[in-house]
This record gives sequence, structure tokens and C-alpha cells, in this order.
Amino acid sequence: MYTHLQLRDSDRPPVTLATLARMKAQGEKIVSLTCYDASFAVLLDAADVDVVLVGDSLGMVIQGRDTTVPVTMDQMVYHSAAVARGLHRPFLITDLPFMSYPTKERALENAVRLMQEGGAKMVKLESGGGQVEIVEFLASHDIAVCAHLGLKPQSVHKTGGFRVQGREDAAAHQLIEDAKRLESAGADVVLLECIPAALGMQITAALAVPVIGIGAGPDTDGQILVLYDILDITTGRKPRFVRNFMAGAGDNLEAIKRYVAAVRERAYPAAEHCF
Ligand code: KIV
Repeated sequence: MYTHLQLRDSDRPPVTLATLARMKAQGEKIVSLTCYDASFAVLLDAADVDVVLVGDSLGMVIQGRDTTVPVTMDQMVYHSAAVARGLHRPFLITDLPFMSYPTKERALENAVRLMQEGGAKMVKLESGGGQVEIVEFLASHDIAVCAHLGLKPQSVHKTGGFRVQGREDAAAHQLIEDAKRLESAGADVVLLECIPAALGMQITAALAVPVIGIGAGPDTDGQILVLYDILDITTGRKPRFVRNFMAGAGDNLEAIKRYVAAVRERAYPAAEHCF
């Protein structure tokens, strides 16, 4: 009954949660990038990226805003649908933007929009202990969830800026506990942003679900970066964990392929990209 989906490109079956679980079990690195439109989505697919995230970072890299806070649900749906049209193999995750999940009911309503209108296979929300119930509610409705921990850009006005998280023992302990609680609540993937490499390794080892890191060291199950950062389109000061893959590459596709190879071969991230 489902064969028309599988036969579309049988050499390259679409990545599923089962694929990601197998990759974690076999120690194969998961390669992920953000994306915001169909043209780049086609390139990411061609470069064999495993997981594509329509991040609310689009507020900064596409809209030129200072933070992700102004990004709306309609904007996320619009960009997610565009990206979904360009993808075949990669697993598509889309961000629930700021204040789109203040209650479990609103979270469900908005997750459904990202999936039905935006083509997402999983939704991501910036989480802590306060989001456990929401993750549980989404999971109970069979919605795949990625819990984003560590630096949470939607909270920068409260937390005081874009800073490395979990440096102190108490904060590190809290992050480990939150990650375990979110996994128990039903999170299928955990994303760690901007934490010390040793903590990234500890959380990854403590969880059964795949862990994808950005500025979280080399030992997470996968790596993600913002597409415009690796292509050197982003201007101004870049975070320590960013590497420019455009340097020496002939075109965008080659740069993306270099990133894919560097993550799979564990050449990225190197010591200079870690906290
Ligand atoms: O919005 C985004 O692009 C993200 C990545 C930084 C992981 O959440």
C-alpha cells in the first residue's frame, strides 16, 4: 500500500527516525544543516545531508533581525513548505517559533500546522523542565519531537544574550536532568546548542535517543550548523563553532559536500570549534 513512496528513489530511501536510531547505534555521524528555501533544499539533498532543519534562525539570516523572537507561525509554515518541496531523502524538522507553544493545546495545534501545511516530519521546541508536559502531550498524539536544550535563542532577552550554557556544575547537572526528563516524556531527538564539549559527551552517552549538537563538541551523535554560516554568507563576527566550508570550494554544492564529509569523517568539529 505504501510502495509508491518507497519506490520513488529506492536507492536513497527517505531518512526516518529508525534510520537515525540505527546511525546512533552504529556510531555513524548524523549530518544536519538548516535550510529556508526549495533551491537550497535540493542542494542539501544532493549533498546527502541526513536531517534538514527549518530553523527560526531564519529571523536572523533571512529577515535580518537581531533575534529569533519576532518569527511567526505563518512564516515558519511558509519556509517549511518551500523546503519540503525540495527534499526527498533528508528528514525534515521545523521549529515551533517563540510563543507558539505556551500551552500543550496551542503546541499541538501549531505542530499540526507545521506538519500538514509545512511538510515537517518532526517539530522542534526550545525546552527545559517547563516543557516536559508539552513534549509528553505531543508524543501522546504521535508527533515526533526534537527537544532543543542549552543555549535557547528564543530566551535570550531573559537569559542575557547568546552565551555558552552549562559551564557551572549546577547548570550542567540541570541540563543532564532536563535531557533525561524530556527523553522520558517522549522526545525522539535532542538538540544541544553551545555547551562545553565534555557536557555534550555526557548527555549523549546518557540518552538512548539521537543527540545532535551545534557548538556542543565532537561527541554528539550528529552535528548541525546554519547553512549561511558554512557558505560564508553570514557577515560579521561568527560563533567559535562555525567553520567556513566555502573556502576552496568551487560552488555551494561542493561546500555542502565538504561539510557532509567533514562531519562523517569526524574532521569537524575540531578542538578550535569547541567550548
Ligand atoms: O533555528 C535554528 O537554526 C536552530 C539551530 C541553531 C540549531 O535552532
